[in-house]
Amino acid sequence: MTFPKLHLVHILLLILSFSTMKVKSQNNKASKNHKHQVDSLLNKMTLKEKVGQMVQYSGGWDLTGPAKSKNNKLKKEQISNGLVGSMLNVTSVEQVREAQKLAIKKSRLKIPMLFGYDVIHGYQTMFPVPLAEAASWNLELMKKTAEASAEEATAAGINWTFAPMVDISQDARWGRIMESAGEDPYLNTQVALAKMNGYQGDDLSDPQTMAATAKHFAGYGFIIGGREYNSVNIGEFELHNTILPPFKALAINGVATFMNSFSDMDGIPATASHRLQTEILKEKWGFNGFIVSDWDSIGELEEHGVAENSADAARIAVNAGNDMDMQSNAYAEHLVKLVQDGKVSEKRINDAVSRILNQKFQLGLFDDPYKYCDTTREQEVVYSKKLQKLAYEAALESIVLLKNDDQILPIANEKKSIALIGPLADDKNTPLGNWRGRAKKNSAVSVLEGLKNKLPKTTELTYHKGVDFIKGGESFMTPLQINQKDDSKIQEAVEIAKNNDQVILVVGESAFQSGEGRSQADISLPGLQKQLVKSVYQANPNIIMVLMNGRPMDISWSADHIPAILETWHLGSQAGNAIADVLLGNYNPSGKLPVTFPRNSAQEPLYYNHKNTGRPKANANEVIYSHYNDVKDGPLFPFGFGLSYTSFEYGDISLNKDSFFKGGEIIAEINITNTGKRKGEEVVQLYIRDLVASITRPVKELKDFKKIKLNAGETKTLQFSITEKDIEFYTINRKWESEPGEFKLMIGGHSKDLKTASFNFTTD
Ligand code: BGC
Repeated sequence: MTFPKLHLVHILLLILSFSTMKVKSQNNKASKNHKHQVDSLLNKMTLKEKVGQMVQYSGGWDLTGPAKSKNNKLKKEQISNGLVGSMLNVTSVEQVREAQKLAIKKSRLKIPMLFGYDVIHGYQTMFPVPLAEAASWNLELMKKTAEASAEEATAAGINWTFAPMVDISQDARWGRIMESAGEDPYLNTQVALAKMNGYQGDDLSDPQTMAATAKHFAGYGFIIGGREYNSVNIGEFELHNTILPPFKALAINGVATFMNSFSDMDGIPATASHRLQTEILKEKWGFNGFIVSDWDSIGELEEHGVAENSADAARIAVNAGNDMDMQSNAYAEHLVKLVQDGKVSEKRINDAVSRILNQKFQLGLFDDPYKYCDTTREQEVVYSKKLQKLAYEAALESIVLLKNDDQILPIANEKKSIALIGPLADDKNTPLGNWRGRAKKNSAVSVLEGLKNKLPKTTELTYHKGVDFIKGGESFMTPLQINQKDDSKIQEAVEIAKNNDQVILVVGESAFQSGEGRSQADISLPGLQKQLVKSVYQANPNIIMVLMNGRPMDISWSADHIPAILETWHLGSQAGNAIADVLLGNYNPSGKLPVTFPRNSAQEPLYYNHKNTGRPKANANEVIYSHYNDVKDGPLFPFGFGLSYTSFEYGDISLNKDSFFKGGEIIAEINITNTGKRKGEEVVQLYIRDLVASITRPVKELKDFKKIKLNAGETKTLQFSITEKDIEFYTINRKWESEPGEFKLMIGGHSKDLKTASFNFTTD
């Protein structure tokens, strides 16, 4: 097979213009070793001081889980005695300095502490929640928002973030899907590397960068039924082929730390897993950072029923490879004695402490323990205009246009009156999302505010909330209360809808319906919102639905009836401005779904890269194939899907050859044309299917993508290189390797609309 000749310069220019290039593996300086300094410090330490380095406490006022830890006074005493290696949830220069001072001024060896915090999608400036940002498919942008979050958090004293979460998330019922980059291992890996490179930069000792964490190791995204904190039952091949790839990429590219998971896999809690933490992570992948437990996950080994008491839990966790204890007290209380009794070796303690000290040297904390404690910098950087601008740009690119019948979007200038309806339309809190760090309550720009900022003065805007749907839920201690009864204001909203040209309905989930501890059995619009949508639709069907949510939702009724739907997730501080600009056509939406949207929550987990099974659908009239009888097959919106205000047409794929050998490559080429009237961006996705292999393989797997810009009428020719690494997987030989055979290649705008070609890979 051949493809038309392209001018070399043209190809080079094209390559340079892609905003989402594959992130290159780079040996991040985070993996630098300070062995000499670490060893000499270790030699001076008593066993008690060594164990102290393995202890992490929360600043007691800010709990992110059940509280089992000591009171603040005791914690301070322990810090002063050199018995605490790290604090979490201590934020602001003032508080960090005060705590660090205790370690530096009072303790014998003056070892500085690490200050960790959940900087998940920002510190005080909120960027889109990770699931939303993944929808931008713009790796450069995701790196920039991590860089900016690091700049902001380090200005406030923090030097370690518990991010990125790289749990592959196939189940929309799981609340923490909002914290992930979705269901695909390749996309997750690319996003994970971009995030790590953003947080850690090239040099961890730079005071604007921070240590990152790969979490939760491993399997948390596969908890049964998406039910928070539950068990994971997956096999060895699924573990290696689906769950581990992003973790492995972070480990070998120098992520500073790993965090294990609350869940148990096939009977072994992750925190107790020697296989995961020691054999795979430390020995096989050569990870030289340290592993922190999840919040009290060592203590929870008792609840899991694998430890008799807290001492037993400490023994199991440390021997499995867990280096630092977040908040359970088990290490602080029992490790010294466990070593004295010969149940834990001092060698293991030395290994854990060396790893922790090494990270402190990397950060440069021994040179200046207060390097993140500059109040002037804190005032200048936190919530700065520069950060707000980036939050706005990231929000714009994260929006996904799901439906746009008759091009009702963007809103035409001649629309004279708009009814803005819905419980989230003037909500300044929900867009901040879950894991909102130190964001100020109600600090996001609401859709109402955004529209007021951007609409021409000639357009009349009338707002009505329609229904109150939620109260509470902001902390782990206050359950959500959903209004299921009071529909008294719906009629007022209906009247307003009747009297306006255009309706914009802003509905969805509150920020505290997704996130940790927020699994849902029903993922349709909560409370009386369904009733609101239907009532308004009967009065005026000319509706644009703006959806705010942290997970894929079942919006089947709306998808059948409402002419336009915009997926806006929880977009962060600048949400309303970005949404208004997309509604009004000042920005042409370019996001694509990083997760499948189901038709019905009972279909979950629903994901595009499933297996073929022994009984795929062969004949429309048969019932004996893998499916449900009572729901239409397949997704409501597939993985990779997203519309634009323009349209794109794909040519056929041409390959420079139809087979390749080890060490070789195939070049696939495809033309993409902007066939609409305005410029736009398209995420061109490449999938591969391994037709016959030693184990069952997915029906397609994402292997590459490029986000390109095209002017109206413009055609670009894209080239993709396919090499052996794109077809490798964890085979029946329990090795990551390739197998010869025939492969199907697919390129297109989403996982269900693809051009195809085929090629062979041969080994002889
Ligand atoms: C979460 C972690 C988080 C930790 C510290 C836990 O409940 O699972 O992801 O980093 O709390 O806040």
